Amino acid sequence: MARAEFDALEQQALRRAETRDHEADQQPGHIVCEGLVRIFKADGLEVVALQGLDLWVERGEMIAIVGVSGSGKSTLLNILSGLDEPTAGQARVAGHDLFGMSARQRLEYRRRTVGFVWQQTSRNLLHYLTAVDNVALPIQLARPVSRRVALRRAHTLLELVGIPDCARRLPREMSGGEQQRAAVAVAVANQPEVLFADEPTGELDETSAAELFDALEAINRELGVTIVVVTHDTAVTRHVARTVAIRDGRTSSEVRRRVRRGLDGQEEHIAEEYALLDRAGRLQLPRAYVDALELEHRVRLDLEPDHVAVRPDDSSHEVRRG
Ligand SMILES: Nc1ncnc2c1ncn2[C@@H]1O[C@H](COP(=O)(O)OP(=O)(O)O)[C@@H](O)[C@H]1O
Ligand SMILES: [Mg+2]
Repeated sequence: MARAEFDALEQQALRRAETRDHEADQQPGHIVCEGLVRIFKADGLEVVALQGLDLWVERGEMIAIVGVSGSGKSTLLNILSGLDEPTAGQARVAGHDLFGMSARQRLEYRRRTVGFVWQQTSRNLLHYLTAVDNVALPIQLARPVSRRVALRRAHTLLELVGIPDCARRLPREMSGGEQQRAAVAVAVANQPEVLFADEPTGELDETSAAELFDALEAINRELGVTIVVVTHDTAVTRHVARTVAIRDGRTSSEVRRRVRRGLDGQEEHIAEEYALLDRAGRLQLPRAYVDALELEHRVRLDLEPDHVAVRPDDSSHEVRRG
């Protein structure tokens, strides 16, 4: 890529980050959810899709959210991207309070603050436009720039996601993986603060999925966009430093990955699992732990100097008096 072009793009992103730092969102945390609840009512039935979900993402982080089908991943992403409204709780993204936004504010928020990538490749791109025109379109809609400038930026973004050769191709002339990488370029064309992707690798083979994550990493690293990727494929999570697990509409645990250099100079990849503690002090024990000790109903807690012990409740066998 023309290095100068790329530097210009990066400078632009940096300048934007600077002005932001002096403006609206001085509060810590780029994405903050506390006790988020979403209840769907259908045919007189209530489905509690999110039941008090907590989430904290720093500016510039790239995280994955994993969970089985039906755990509430899409519901969460739809709320965070302004497509849906929470029933209760708090959600804040880049200084925007997502609770009680007017329709107009919501539209503005979706246009300027967030970018979105869907699972279905066909939903992300206009089928009658080439890749570069797909990317140039939102650039031109967002601000008054000449077509020449928009096209130049579009080419730079396609290069950044690793598919410069696809610029003049229509979506149907590209592989599924290439289409999704073009979709990432489209999603960040209007310089959003945050990029959400709902199962973006769902229709891709393993190699294409890895390439898509490379593209997301490049966007995250070079443009400083905060990224949240939802997936039910735990294999892809080795690409991110932090993976948050969601279970029954709540975040339950997270895995952090880092690289450590051992004494022998070799790099070691370390993955550590954490349980999440909410503000009220609640935490969820992993299913396997609960099963292993047949924990039920209540457990005994003992505070030790540097940890808390959780034991099965053995008092239930005693005869209760008075
Ligand atoms: N529009 C809706 N109306 C009723 N129930 C819904 C709606 N959207 C999602 N749900 C329900 O909410 C739960 C979570 O769904 P979803 O967020 O799509 O999960 P995931 O994306 O993790 O598969 C599911 O039980 C689903 O059936
Ligand atoms: Mg989903």
